[in-house]
Amino acid sequence: MEIQLWRELLDPYQLAVDELIVKFNHVITEHRTRGLYSPIESVEGRLKSIDSILEKMKRKDISMNEIEEKMEDIAGIRLNCQFVEDIEKVVKIVEQRSDMKVKCVKDYIKHVKASGYRSYHMIIAYTVNTIDGPKELSAEIQIRTMAMNFWATVEHSLQYKYKENIPDNIQRKLIDASQAIVQIDQAMSDVRDEIMDAQNSHQRKENMVKDILNNIQNLYRVANKREVAKIQDEFYKVYMLDDMMQLQHFASQLDIISEGYQTQSLT
Ligand code: GTP
Ligand code: MG
Repeated sequence: MEIQLWRELLDPYQLAVDELIVKFNHVITEHRTRGLYSPIESVEGRLKSIDSILEKMKRKDISMNEIEEKMEDIAGIRLNCQFVEDIEKVVKIVEQRSDMKVKCVKDYIKHVKASGYRSYHMIIAYTVNTIDGPKELSAEIQIRTMAMNFWATVEHSLQYKYKENIPDNIQRKLIDASQAIVQIDQAMSDVRDEIMDAQNSHQRKENMVKDILNNIQNLYRVANKREVAKIQDEFYKVYMLDDMMQLQHFASQLDIISEGYQTQSLT
């Protein structure tokens, strides 16, 4: 195939990858601005390289005009989670979206691969809009914990080096390592509530400080500068106390002051 035709084939998939990255990153942002724990920790995406497409065509006996129908991972998204428990939440998020249709799923966490590979895969149908109009295509979403991702990344580079023939002793070590990953995931799950609590209160504090500083900045435009400077000094003092209750109290007092100025400016 000519390079121009490859480009025409792949461009819509690149668009899908770009859009899906934005959308899933926004899921993280939405959780965090509401002070909620995000089951997605980070998002990655990639367009399958022409080299990998050719290799898979050969391996799976796929012809040129079957690529779009049979190769479902040209657009690939990876959603990394902190805890195994987050994975089913992420699956629900994908299922409930109106812009993605789940075509099939593969649960390699319940059914671990012989290699030791663990991950939850979803193939979705996703529509992009191109200058030729809407185009529905397939994309693969891999959902895994950061620990699973660590293992898969390392193992994948070895697969690349040895092709299918990873030496037995290395293979055994990888399977051992994958069992160790199961244990890490389990150990992290055991402290999940503690960790989530800590992260939530950190996020709440961050949001609160952002609101307070926004409020102070807005006041600076409408109120007496010296008064605002005093409020700011007061904020620093309260902040140094490192007491969420006091910070919360300060934030509500500041809200009342700001609302006062707002009504004043309206009348
Ligand atoms: P591929 O042709 O490799 O894409 O496989 P497939 O279309 O038969 O689907 P499968 O669900 O087996 O694998 C899909 C993807 O999961 C692969 O492209 C890899 O990214 C990942 N994967 C599957 N098995 C392994 C494994 O043993 N090790 C690693 N590191 N990744 C794997
Ligand atoms: Mg693949």
